[in-house]
Amino acid sequence: MDDAIFDRLKAIVGEAHVLTKKEDLIPYGFDGTAAIKEPALCVVLPGSTQEVAAIVKLAHERSIPIVTRGSGTGLSGGSVPVKEGLVLCLLRMKQILELDTANLTLLAEAGVITKDIDEAALPHGLFYPPDPGSQKVSTIGGNVANNSGGLRGLKYGVTRDYVMGLEVVLASGEIAWLGSKCVKDVAGYSLKDLFVGSEGTLGIVTKVLLRLLPRPKARQTLLATYNSMEAAARTVSKIIENQIIPCTLEFLDRKTCECVEDFAKVGLPRGVAAVVLMETDGHPDVVMEEATRMADIAKENGALAVSLAEDAAHATRLATARRSAFAALARIRPTTILEDVTVPRSKLPDIVRFIEDIAKKYDLQIATFGHFGDGNVHPTFLTNERDTDEMERVHAAMEEIFEKTIALEGTITGEHGVGLAKKPYLPQQFRDASYDLLKLVKASLDPKGLLNPGKIFDR
Ligand code: LAC
Ligand code: ZN
Repeated sequence: MDDAIFDRLKAIVGEAHVLTKKEDLIPYGFDGTAAIKEPALCVVLPGSTQEVAAIVKLAHERSIPIVTRGSGTGLSGGSVPVKEGLVLCLLRMKQILELDTANLTLLAEAGVITKDIDEAALPHGLFYPPDPGSQKVSTIGGNVANNSGGLRGLKYGVTRDYVMGLEVVLASGEIAWLGSKCVKDVAGYSLKDLFVGSEGTLGIVTKVLLRLLPRPKARQTLLATYNSMEAAARTVSKIIENQIIPCTLEFLDRKTCECVEDFAKVGLPRGVAAVVLMETDGHPDVVMEEATRMADIAKENGALAVSLAEDAAHATRLATARRSAFAALARIRPTTILEDVTVPRSKLPDIVRFIEDIAKKYDLQIATFGHFGDGNVHPTFLTNERDTDEMERVHAAMEEIFEKTIALEGTITGEHGVGLAKKPYLPQQFRDASYDLLKLVKASLDPKGLLNPGKIFDR
């Protein structure tokens, strides 16, 4: 990239929105992923789809790679710059363009903060359920790029389940609208679904049409404590076996629970092996009945104590504290590497026990928490990237966890995406013609390989 390119970019977005000075570029050199970074050469902040399209056309013409990002909260290195590339940051595109209360949809630009979507829905009695841990900072565009999950996945699903339509800028710089406001729409391939979770490798999502739900009238939060992880996992299986699908079934191991309590001070217990946070929502009568049954099931399956949140504010404090788990753990050691392996729910006790054994085998600190109800666990390595011996053990342990996950018919990433962090392990999971199919899709939509190249798989 040279001054002539910078001048053309400035002509598109305005001088103030092209960053090339070293000190301005520093925050764009990494995302939320430990030990993965690459200095950015140039950051462009477009204010509209037309500007994105013009930038992509220029990049296409001059064969310049583009890495798109929002707030950079990703946990797989997906939005870390690539060499010789430009960074396209969509944070200026933060308008909620329409809230259609007749069709229960919301149209947002890609840079809108996730939580602002639910807050816009709230006064209309509506609800946007996906709530990734980073929801106060992350953008809806980033959520779509990673098909982000959250704490309510069990009952409400993930980002994909709410995307009805997308505006995307294709690799050529053309603009395409995918999907519609129709509840049923089978016209052609479901192209929007191809772009959800594509990590910026197929096109650039500029607008998102989301489905909203009526806001649940009541909710109840419960906290159960355990002296073994197995008993906690058993409770989760039994609740589901009893055909109760609460919105949240989260767990924290002892280390995570104590770190979160030190950080958030919400009265979480100390000295217990596991805590399960449960939330049911819906009609007040159903919520009451489900909360009572869940408390009984927890006690029958070895809970030491079960308590109810005192009121809505207390429930929110508990959920917020849980969402801070990553931040709380990140304070313990210099480097925090958080994984998101996911297994069929019935295999939860196996993977949790395996992670505990691996921590002992490699003499590592691994704190584990996650979305028990989704079979999605976050073994979190509390380590130090400067300690080469320890890092070797971290990588060996991680590899064993991935192998075990795949053997249990799980997936190496349930919610954070492949990016750079999990790229080396993807072929183990995609062992048949499916791996080439991924590459075929990429080659047909981005023939010059300019959109987030080297992420998910090598170029
Ligand atoms: C969470 C993020 C790290 O569950 O996925 O908090
Ligand atoms: Zn998570």
